Amino acid sequence: MASTSKKAGHVAIIMDGNGRWAQMRGRPRLMGHHAGAKRIREIVETCPDVGVKHLTIFAFSTENWKRTQTEVAGLMRLFKRYIRREMQDLVDRGVRVRFIGDRVRLEDSLVALMDELELATADNSRVHLTIAINYGGRDEVTRAAKRLAFDVEQGKLSHSDVNAEVLARYLDTHFLPDPDLVIRTSGEARISNFLLWQSAYAEYEFIDTLWPDFTSEEFINLVSKFGTRERRFGGVLV
Ligand code: IPE
Ligand code: IPE
Ligand code: MG
Repeated sequence: MASTSKKAGHVAIIMDGNGRWAQMRGRPRLMGHHAGAKRIREIVETCPDVGVKHLTIFAFSTENWKRTQTEVAGLMRLFKRYIRREMQDLVDRGVRVRFIGDRVRLEDSLVALMDELELATADNSRVHLTIAINYGGRDEVTRAAKRLAFDVEQGKLSHSDVNAEVLARYLDTHFLPDPDLVIRTSGEARISNFLLWQSAYAEYEFIDTLWPDFTSEEFINLVSKFGTRERRFGGVLV
């Protein structure tokens, strides 16, 4: 494995291409989602070996409700099954799981499992896995602005106190550092409303591999490549 000079402490992944993976095999799209969900464990397991402390994965966007009822219902069932199946293993492997996104539109039975998994893994710290469900960057900033406005209304905060750091505390990701590297699979070079605020200075990797084919080898290579990149954050190199 190539040595990394700079560590990607937080990697975020837009897990895309499940549908095409299934269609190429003449199978229903949901098959692709099931195959995709199976890839997560190996990537999480690789994180400590390559210095990735935080892994954030995009599972369902605020726009994904536009899909057929069959696909949406199948995905919700898959999320519940994934949580039930993986819970003990995540606890045992020291993974702390948290969810971001708006829970209001999710079924109660799914939200209950999400709460249970967060609680069961709350003492873990080997890897921090954040799963984005019903997440959209614009929606997140809008909800944050609403809560912030409420606190101003309540007199808890003055409008003159508002700055980027204060606003960031109202975001779903308030417990996370900004992502260093954002990977999107399946050949699409867009961010589809993922971590808009947080990725202001992230490095991006758009790769052709479909998510169900993504391996830890490829993950390790991308993280190693990140270590050779020059980040300037608007400044100049000295
Ligand atoms: C990503 O795969 C998973 C979700 C958005 C839930 P897609 O379902 O978008 O797969 P493609 O892009 O249609 O191949
Ligand atoms: C982004 O993928 C959302 C997730 C991976 C969960 P999409 O497949 O929904 O994005 P678009 O429609 O190609 O932009
Ligand atoms: Mg897609």
